[in-house]
Amino acid sequence: MKIVSIVGARPQFIKCAPLSRLIREKHEEILIHTGQHYDTGMSDIFFDELKIPKPNYNLGVGSNSHGVQTGKMLIEIEKILLRESPDLVLVYGDTNSTLAGDLAASKLHIKTAHIEAGLRSFDRSMPEEINRVLTDHTSDLLFCPTETAVLNLKKEGITTGVYNVGDVMLDSLKYNIRIAEQKATILGKLNLNSKEYIVATVHRASNTDSFENLSSITNAFCHTGVSIVFTVHPRTEKYLKQYGLWNKLCEKVKVIPPLGYLEMLKLMVHAKKILTDSGGVQKEAYMLGVPCITMRENTEWVETIEDGGNVLVGTDYEKIMDAILNFKGVPVKGNFFGNGNACAEICKTLNKL
Ligand code: UD1
Ligand code: UDP
Repeated sequence: MKIVSIVGARPQFIKCAPLSRLIREKHEEILIHTGQHYDTGMSDIFFDELKIPKPNYNLGVGSNSHGVQTGKMLIEIEKILLRESPDLVLVYGDTNSTLAGDLAASKLHIKTAHIEAGLRSFDRSMPEEINRVLTDHTSDLLFCPTETAVLNLKKEGITTGVYNVGDVMLDSLKYNIRIAEQKATILGKLNLNSKEYIVATVHRASNTDSFENLSSITNAFCHTGVSIVFTVHPRTEKYLKQYGLWNKLCEKVKVIPPLGYLEMLKLMVHAKKILTDSGGVQKEAYMLGVPCITMRENTEWVETIEDGGNVLVGTDYEKIMDAILNFKGVPVKGNFFGNGNACAEICKTLNKL
């Protein structure tokens, strides 16, 4: 088959690396990078270290409002699909790149596959939730990471083309964790001892685009007295500076630019706890057996909460402080996310088409 895979944002590069490798054993893959993420530390670094093939097309769409960003992608992806005439279009996760890719292909009656289908936070104020729901309802093949995702789809009447294959991020983590342990130098660079610090990430729009929420989060980071390493997403850096929070934060917390995946894995596996609002980081904390504190009111990854390894604290200062100091949840490490062979399972289905 000729398969067009569409990626554009950091977590999609990490998800596509192991699947792209397998797909290329049997099929022709054309890779489109929408350019949604474009900084070296948000894009190129992942292509280099995960040996993702150079994209055949980079649309260079960049940052903008949702409508402009998604619209520009749609226009450019349609042109490429008309030119390439693929048998299948593959999209990942829940970003604007996901929706644009799925929509362009569906309207051209090209078969589409959604990797990480069926996730729901049941919160339509999240742009990602809109992207998930719309993509799932127009995809032909829905590759779910968990049984919960399969049930979510069933409740919305989607039962054909649905496969629980496990999570491709577990494939990625299993493949890279030993490499990260050997190669990554972040602990030495930052002078950190294993299990003596907390890793933090923040980038969810509801947290960054609100002074109240972002200041509550950063105040908690500054006041616990615990060593926190904060890898800062460019969106978050922009708002921290705009709100006048950047300098205050930097005095108390180790603020660092976004890391490559290998450095990030190493930083996470040796952390005492992880503080995040990221979907991928919540899962990785769980897979690595590190207690996770999630600064959101809800999560799509409900298994991690039910299992006790993750706790939702929203953006409440007291709750964040309390969890930083007292949350000790240790994940049981059930195999909700499969066994790390999601890519092989996906390819089994693709190879039969
Ligand atoms: C996007 C996804 C989100 C995902 C996240 C992963 C959508 C709606 N959101 O959010 O689901 O969790 O990626 O990280 O698709 N910026 C840069 N350089 C870059 C990229 C972004 O400076 O390379 C800055 C720009 O100011 C931009 C802002 O970050 O306006 C937000 O970027 P955008 O891609 O729109 O959304 P994310 O918050 O990254
Ligand atoms: N990540 C990374 N470097 C960082 C922060 C995150 O490599 O500085 C990785 C993280 O390990 C995970 C993925 O990026 O694999 C998660 O992406 P992100 O948090 O941007 O988006 P989400 O998963 O919330 O969509």
